Amino acid sequence: MVNKEKWKITGVIATILIVLSVPLYLLKATYFDQDLTAELEFEPQFVGKESCIDCHKIAYDLWTGSDHDLAMDYANDSTVRGDFENAEFEYKGQTHKFYKRDDKYYVYTDGPEGIMQEFEVKYTFGAHPLQQYLVEFDGGRLQTLALTWDTISKAWYHMEEAVYPEDDVHASNWLHWTNQAQNWNGMCADCHSTNLKKGFDINTDTFNTTWSEIDVSCEACHGPSSEHIKWANLPEMARPQNTNTGLIVQTSDIDNRRYVDLCARCHSRRSSLRDYDFDWTDLLDHMIPELPNEPMYYSDGQILEEDYVYGSFTQSRMYMEDVMCNDCHNVHSGKLVLDGNTLCLQCHRSDVYETYNHHFHKYKGESSLKVIDEFGKESKVGDGAQCINCHMPGRYYMGVDYRRDHSFRVPRPDLSDQLGTPNACTQCHANESNVWASNYLRKWYGESTNPHYGIALAAGAQMQEGAFANLVKLTKDDLYPVIIRATALSILGGNYPDSSKMVFKNSLKDIESLIRYTALHHYPFTGLDDINDIIPLLNDPVRAVRFEAAISLSVVPVDQFPSKSKHALDEALLEYKEAMEYSADFSASRHNLGNFYSNIGDPNAAIEQYKAAIKIDDLFYPAKVNLAMIYNQMGEMRKLKYC
Ligand code: HEC
Ligand code: HEC
Ligand code: HEC
Ligand code: HEC
Ligand code: HEC
Ligand code: HEC
Ligand code: HEC
Ligand code: HEC
Repeated sequence: MVNKEKWKITGVIATILIVLSVPLYLLKATYFDQDLTAELEFEPQFVGKESCIDCHKIAYDLWTGSDHDLAMDYANDSTVRGDFENAEFEYKGQTHKFYKRDDKYYVYTDGPEGIMQEFEVKYTFGAHPLQQYLVEFDGGRLQTLALTWDTISKAWYHMEEAVYPEDDVHASNWLHWTNQAQNWNGMCADCHSTNLKKGFDINTDTFNTTWSEIDVSCEACHGPSSEHIKWANLPEMARPQNTNTGLIVQTSDIDNRRYVDLCARCHSRRSSLRDYDFDWTDLLDHMIPELPNEPMYYSDGQILEEDYVYGSFTQSRMYMEDVMCNDCHNVHSGKLVLDGNTLCLQCHRSDVYETYNHHFHKYKGESSLKVIDEFGKESKVGDGAQCINCHMPGRYYMGVDYRRDHSFRVPRPDLSDQLGTPNACTQCHANESNVWASNYLRKWYGESTNPHYGIALAAGAQMQEGAFANLVKLTKDDLYPVIIRATALSILGGNYPDSSKMVFKNSLKDIESLIRYTALHHYPFTGLDDINDIIPLLNDPVRAVRFEAAISLSVVPVDQFPSKSKHALDEALLEYKEAMEYSADFSASRHNLGNFYSNIGDPNAAIEQYKAAIKIDDLFYPAKVNLAMIYNQMGEMRKLKYC
């Protein structure tokens, strides 16, 4: 049973406690008797995994050695997997070296000025199939070395060669390991540790980043647990029944949406609005997920860039039908709950699917011809009969890590040529054509194919004939996943702004925050009369929606903005500014801040922010354009050379 109301109420109370705890304490200490203060120590604290062992040995043992446990560590003999025994690695004419001295780990590589020098390796990051290493810099920064250990072939490789071979990443480039793209504090930290506080200071451009535990430990998911321990230490009869055992995160008896949302902040491509504080009712109170859209995904929603799991799983029919991560994964060990096809046959009928008549492939042990896949690897007999190979094909990330698409779709070679999308058949049968594969599908399953939203999305992205009407249908039909409806809306905004005004107006009132947010973000403004539709969203219950409304209204001249809504606008603008300052170590956020100041009529502050954006990434084009425009408006033509 799910008690959502209760959850919401505890959420609200927790907020008030955090925000008001000090003044309330003072008030009570002054006006009431001292006893009451005991009650006020409710703000739960992080206590660390050691506090859980005594009572939860099973969970603890499963978690120990899991990928969550190994997400980050201090570099020492038991954590470092790379070869630091005077190993050498040649890359683009430079010799990089790895060695130990007095139990410390060192690397000799190209530094901030491109000069070869020594750095101490302080931390490990991840454990398989690759391991990365972090080096300390000034200003509280940790940087991720591009030199990476491949734990399978046991060799060093260079991340640049694996991920962006076209770029020549020299020391001044944003992508160089000493620069922002490889900065741990802003780019990596909040997904690999527990209770991470980013601690970025926008004025000094420094970090004071802290964690309660270095890896993804118990309280990363269960939240600060001191109240739970107090609860557990009471005699069983005396324990109150109504507080989720003192844990602020509920993990049992929750529906699949709430469950998947717990994992989303780390298993998604997204932007964070602030430090994660376990205290939210809607995902968009603390993050904005990337939609499964070009250029991060293929146009039909299949994975392309490093998208993690959320944007795929939430577009699947399985998610719509209440399947959750723990149907397949043990959340503590990270391992699959069953091996091979039995994992899927928990729910899918084996007499229908675990048969030659479903997959038309041979099982292990039968003889067959050789099949070479798109990565040049040989597929063995039996591989073609594995459910996940057709319904969860994957791609390699960071060079060596094969990750599978969690959208669980049916392979559609018949669409690949038309839409430029991959399909499992020719990913394995790399020497065959899409036509070859689709001919077999027709032979095996007949002429008819089921409709799939991916077709409508891709057609809309390519502005094919008739695509508009199908996109509109997608946005309205709640039989489709929310994230797909939002994606359709974003394509409408981009490709059909003039004809989709009504769809946008209606979407502003949608029950789903992601739809409201997307509608605002792509809203096709035509004039001042749009203001009245947007103003109500300044008071939206969800943070990202509120501030997106605010930033789009901030362009409206003050004298034309209804004064009774001015207060709501200012509050929501402040939330926007806070979120952007939180991520102001990114050029995009500096650029957003620049726009923000420009909109509220402070061009000098805007100039500072655009300049800061360019300083972080001197190829960040939008900031250059806006800076030029602002100088232009101010008549400062000679400063254009700074743009
Ligand atoms: C003194 C013993 C004790 C300690 C220490 C303890 N717990 Fe518990 N925990 C319990 C008991 C008892 C329950 C209730 C079990 C039940 O009802 O099945 C529980 C339940 C839980 C649950 C399940 C809650 C639910 O919704 O069903 C979680 C999660 C949990 N504990 C996490 C933790 C974590 C994390 C720690 C360490 C920070 C911890 N516990 C430390 C005794 C303890
Ligand atoms: C605080 C961030 C964070 C949260 C929250 C989180 N994870 Fe993870 N998860 C990670 C990181 C980081 C890794 C990879 C660590 C590594 O490989 O070193 C990972 C890895 C995994 C893996 C891969 C295990 C393997 O053996 O390949 C699974 C499965 C997983 N997580 C499931 C979940 C589920 C389910 C949830 C939600 C209940 C969840 N995670 C919540 C950060 C998180
Ligand atoms: C949005 C959360 C998130 C961010 C940000 C993030 N990671 Fe991860 N990382 C994960 C998850 C989740 C996994 C588990 C693999 C997966 O999802 O398939 C992982 C896995 C890894 C692994 C282990 C190898 C593997 O693929 O399993 C390494 C190494 C790693 N990440 C390095 C980094 C570095 C370096 C950064 C910053 C430049 C970073 N990560 C940023 C979530 C994140
Ligand atoms: C990646 C997120 C994550 C981490 C890390 C994590 N848990 Fe859990 N835990 C969950 C979820 C989600 C559930 C709900 C049940 C499920 O999914 O199987 C759960 C369930 C539990 C339960 C109740 C049911 C059971 O399996 O016994 C206990 C107790 C528990 N966790 C303790 C711990 C302890 C102790 C640690 C650290 C050693 C820990 N958890 C680490 C996510 C996590
Ligand atoms: C916990 C139950 C459960 C498990 C485990 C499960 N499925 Fe499903 N699956 C479902 C449900 C429910 C549906 C939706 C069925 C429907 O609508 O007819 C579904 C639908 C599908 C679809 C159809 C998707 C579409 O777009 O038409 C595919 C393919 C699929 N599952 C593959 C898999 C594979 C592969 C596995 C194993 C990795 C798996 N399933 C494991 C419950 C499950
Ligand atoms: C060689 C590739 C291949 C393998 C292996 C495979 N499937 Fe399929 N599966 C397909 C294709 C193709 C379709 C679409 C069939 C059609 O159009 O009627 C499909 C359709 C499905 C559907 C959706 C049916 C529907 O009505 O929408 C489910 C569920 C499914 N498969 C489950 C499984 C399970 C479970 C396994 C493993 C036991 C499996 N598949 C193995 C290729 C495969
Ligand atoms: C229907 C089964 C199923 C469900 C549901 C499922 N997964 Fe997976 N997951 C898999 C399989 C199968 C793999 C591949 C494991 C392997 O190759 O060893 C996988 C792999 C992963 C990995 C490793 C990297 C990758 O992408 O291959 C992560 C991380 C992960 N899952 C997280 C999650 C999270 C988080 C959820 C819920 C939001 C989830 N999974 C839901 C079956 C599932
Ligand atoms: C994991 C890799 C893999 C995937 C995915 C896969 N196959 Fe295969 N396929 C094989 C292997 C290995 C063989 C040889 C053994 C056998 O017959 O099962 C094979 C054999 C075949 C054959 C018979 C031999 C031939 O070349 O004439 C056909 C036809 C075929 N596959 C078509 C398909 C189609 C269509 C799909 C997509 C629905 C598909 N395969 C998906 C690996 C794969």
